Amino acid sequence: MKIIQNPIELKEILRKEKKSIGFVPTMGALHKGHLSLIKRAVSENDITVVSIFVNPTQFLPGEDFEKYPRKIEADKRLCEIAGVDYLFAPTSDDIYQDDEVLIKAPKIKGYILEGFNRPGHFDGVLQIVNKLLNIVKPTRAYFGKKDAQQLYLIEKMVKNFYLDVQIVPCDIVREDDGLAMSSRNVYLSPKDRQKALLISKSLKRASKLIMDGKRDVKELKDEMKKVLKDLDVEYIEIVDRDFNKIDKIEKNNSIILVAAKVGGTRLIDNIWV
Ligand code: PAJ
Repeated sequence: MKIIQNPIELKEILRKEKKSIGFVPTMGALHKGHLSLIKRAVSENDITVVSIFVNPTQFLPGEDFEKYPRKIEADKRLCEIAGVDYLFAPTSDDIYQDDEVLIKAPKIKGYILEGFNRPGHFDGVLQIVNKLLNIVKPTRAYFGKKDAQQLYLIEKMVKNFYLDVQIVPCDIVREDDGLAMSSRNVYLSPKDRQKALLISKSLKRASKLIMDGKRDVKELKDEMKKVLKDLDVEYIEIVDRDFNKIDKIEKNNSIILVAAKVGGTRLIDNIWV
C-alpha cells in the first residue's frame, strides 16, 4: 500500500493506471462500517483508493472538529490488511487553497434535516467530495446509507455536474446490539451507549409496525417518539428516497431518519423501508 499526501502526485499516479478504480472517502477512525465499504471496493475493482481527511469545512463552529478521533496509524494497518492500494491522507493545506470557488448544497434538499440542524455542513461535504472525485477519478465510489442525506446529495451532485463515476450505496453496519457504527461512538460513556440503543430500537419499532401493515407516517412517528422520549431528539422524519416528505409509507421507496443527542454526542441513524 502506498501512502500519498499530495493531491497532484496521487492524480498523476492514478491517471497512469488503466484499470478500474474503487474509491472510499472517509474521515478516518475506521470501524467495521468503513471496512465494509473498503472490502466491497477491493472486491469490485482492480485498484482501491481510500482517503482519510477530517474535512474542516463540513464542521460548524462549535462542533467537534478539534476532538474528532484521529487514529492514522491504526487506520493505515486496517487499510493495508483490507487490500487497499493507495491511502490518500492530505492535510488541509495540501487540498484547500485561498478564496476557493465554492459548491453550494441545493437550497431545499441541502437545508432540511441534517442541513437544517447543521447549516452549511453539506456545502463543505460537497466541496471536498467534488475535489476527491476529481483527484481520484474513480470508476466506482462507495458511500454508506448511514449518512442517507449525504449519499442523496452526492448522487445529485454527480448528476448535476455530469461527473463520470458510479456511486455505490452500501448498507449500514451495526454493533450486535443494533447501534449503528460511527466514529463518534467513542464519545459515549457506557451509560450513554445504553441510552443510544433507543435510536435503533425506535427504527426497529417503526419497521415492525410497517410489517404489520401500518402506513401512516404520523402514527409511525408518534410510536417512535414514545421509544425516544428519554433522548434529546433533533428530528424524526420519514421521507421518500428523493427526500420529499410523505404522509404514507411507500414500500421500497421510504427512509425513516432519526437524529438525537445522547449526553452531548449527536448521533444519526436510519432505515430504508
Ligand atoms: P465518515 O463519517 O468517515 O464516513 C465515511 C463513509 O463511511 C461514509 O460514506 C459513511 O456513510 C460510511 N459509514 C459510516 N458509518 C457507517 C456504517 N455504520 N455503516 C456503513 N457505512 C458507514 O461521511 C464522511 O466520513 C464524510 O462526510 C466524507 C464523505 C468522507 C466527506 O468528508
